[in-house]
Amino acid sequence: MRIAFHETSKTFHLYNEAISYIVTIMRNGHLGQVYFGKRIRDREDFTYFMETCERPMTSYIYEDDRTFSLEHMRQEYPVFGTTDYRQPAVEVRQENGSRLSDFQYENHEILKGKPKLSGLPATYVESEEEALTLRVALKDGLTEVRVELFYTIFAEGGALARSVRFYNDGGQPVWLERAMSLSLDLPDCDYVWQQLCGRWAGECQVRSRALTQGVQAIGSMRGNSSHEHNPFLALKRSHTDERQGEVIGFSFIYSGNFRIQAEVDAHDTLRVMAGINPETFSWKLDAGESFQTPEAVVAYTDQGLNGMSQIFHKLYQKRLARGYWRDRPRPILINNWEATYFDFTEERLLEIAAKAKECGVELFVLDDGWFGKRNGEKAGLGDWTANRDRLPHGIAGLAQRVEALGMKFGLWFEPEMVNKDSDFYRERPDWILATPGRSQSHGRFQYVLDFSRKEVVDAIYEQMAKILREAKVSYTKWDMNRSITECYSGAWPADRQGEIYHRYILGVYELYERLTTEFPEILFESCASGGGRFDPGMLYYAPQGWTSDNSDAVERLKIQYGASMCYPISSMGAHVSVTPNHQVFRNTPLHTRANVACFGTFGYELDLNKLTQEEIQEVKEQIDFMKKYRGVLQFGKFYRLQSPFEGNEAAWMAVSDDQKTALVGWYRVLNCVNGRYTRLRLEGLNPSFCYKNARNGMRHYGDELMYAGLITSDETAGQIPAGVEPYTDFESRIYVLEVDES
Ligand code: DGJ
Repeated sequence: MRIAFHETSKTFHLYNEAISYIVTIMRNGHLGQVYFGKRIRDREDFTYFMETCERPMTSYIYEDDRTFSLEHMRQEYPVFGTTDYRQPAVEVRQENGSRLSDFQYENHEILKGKPKLSGLPATYVESEEEALTLRVALKDGLTEVRVELFYTIFAEGGALARSVRFYNDGGQPVWLERAMSLSLDLPDCDYVWQQLCGRWAGECQVRSRALTQGVQAIGSMRGNSSHEHNPFLALKRSHTDERQGEVIGFSFIYSGNFRIQAEVDAHDTLRVMAGINPETFSWKLDAGESFQTPEAVVAYTDQGLNGMSQIFHKLYQKRLARGYWRDRPRPILINNWEATYFDFTEERLLEIAAKAKECGVELFVLDDGWFGKRNGEKAGLGDWTANRDRLPHGIAGLAQRVEALGMKFGLWFEPEMVNKDSDFYRERPDWILATPGRSQSHGRFQYVLDFSRKEVVDAIYEQMAKILREAKVSYTKWDMNRSITECYSGAWPADRQGEIYHRYILGVYELYERLTTEFPEILFESCASGGGRFDPGMLYYAPQGWTSDNSDAVERLKIQYGASMCYPISSMGAHVSVTPNHQVFRNTPLHTRANVACFGTFGYELDLNKLTQEEIQEVKEQIDFMKKYRGVLQFGKFYRLQSPFEGNEAAWMAVSDDQKTALVGWYRVLNCVNGRYTRLRLEGLNPSFCYKNARNGMRHYGDELMYAGLITSDETAGQIPAGVEPYTDFESRIYVLEVDES
């Protein structure tokens, strides 16, 4: 890994074994983008790649040069209005109404390691040898606004982290109307755009389309990153698939309003940007103030989509997620939500916990409904004290009883919300986000607390910390069940109202930071009605998230497959729930529900007391299996093999670091009779290791399994020989392959 600065060509070359990222200081002092892609040999001058030519209807900076127009230059942090007509990365409104800036190179610095982003989640390093960071300072001479662009290249892997810091060194206030974290101009647009989008209970659906002239964007204006769009984009070549081909992945480490967009211009060059959504953002920068953007990560590989995902998985698992639970296999939990909803007593909870304990479950999680006057959706949020009618021994007493069973205890919160029917709201009605003179919309009868105010965050912190101090809580589920409306804060002046969405998220991060610091061994799971805030920002505080409120195994195949594009398996909450399923009312076999959930942070969300003896036996076996293999399933190298978006069958696999154990998940949605022969060509095995297939006892070398394939055909062609269980719809198998040392 190295960051070279070539004085004569004024070019920076950031490179490691995998990638090169090259930028240059252009004639006008702006930063130009030369190259991003597979590692190339370093040399003094690459600026010949900055192709320009004289084009009609173009505006030029210099009278002596009819080729230098920003419209046709690839730039690193472009502005609008001085010859570039594309969408800009930055817009600074000044007191006189002008929005022009001219950010010219001032100085740069090459730092060992990676500086922290104050108040924001970001990738990090544990030693200075793990990364190098380039800081380039640019200044607008007129306003004296200084922009610092940060680029971090890691010792290994194809990822580069970028963020931007603004300083107002001038005497007048300015307003940042747009401050993207990353802007990348690429020389061609021959990519397929692949996004993760969807809806509540149907998140992370993989959708693709070709790029064409104009702007294409995804984003959120809901206050949370959203169920609708995940802050992730892949641009892949048309021939790229899971196993091979070029792809560039963009991921934005942020949990609020975001935008990721690609603009193809008239000459088929491409500008990609990621950052806070400018639609709902305006930040006043008074003289002497600074502003830090969130971080965006861009990753390049020619190893296909799996190669890209593995870059993100490793970085996010090891250098974004933090703390005690980062590297630890996750406890197998039981959550009471789908078992009881709001209808429970302490006794009933303990019955559920006791049965789960008997099956081998390690953690009991009490979900919504334990606090204030919370008998349903209409009351209680904001009053974080136990409802003694239901829980006569309080949370501390219940936790003690669960611990006495030999399990850990976990608790649900929704810290950012209040019901109007709560003591908290009655005492502080002006602490919600609300626009003066306008009515307040609700979502699920709840209102959003104004987390842009420190006193609000403090008050919620005090309530939560009190419970966590008094009771033995080992896990916390942090929910968020509505998006923001009427976003206005009574605590901030008129010219700072454009800051509220971002200040809100900063408040959420602040609360997370305080709680995870005071309670470092509590495992936090993020949640926002399932996957409404399943993003890298959350991963920094909560190493796992509830992937979706949809717990149906067939639906989960798509959701988890899509989420795995960017997020590691250790981050995906996945539970076995009851049938008929509560979202789609489908009946799937118990083994298929477990076979999908085991590629995640595994748990149950049902009352095991209601299962038959036979089913309980199966659950016990599932739990034993998970305990044995969760290290590989959650932390091994993950490969997608067959997409549920493309057919009736889906498959994925995880391989241990030493390549001695591999677990292959194979799933078929609808059964068929007299079907085709099927094989899965596996990935990531050691070609010369001999693996034993636990399903049939057969032995195969890694090369056989990878190049010829693992046979997954049914043993029958629709006939049912004696002694063989007939296959049905929603069939699945886990193939355990272990190196045979005998
Ligand atoms: C939405 C979550 O996603 C569910 O798992 C559950 O916690 C409910 N909220 C509780 O209100």
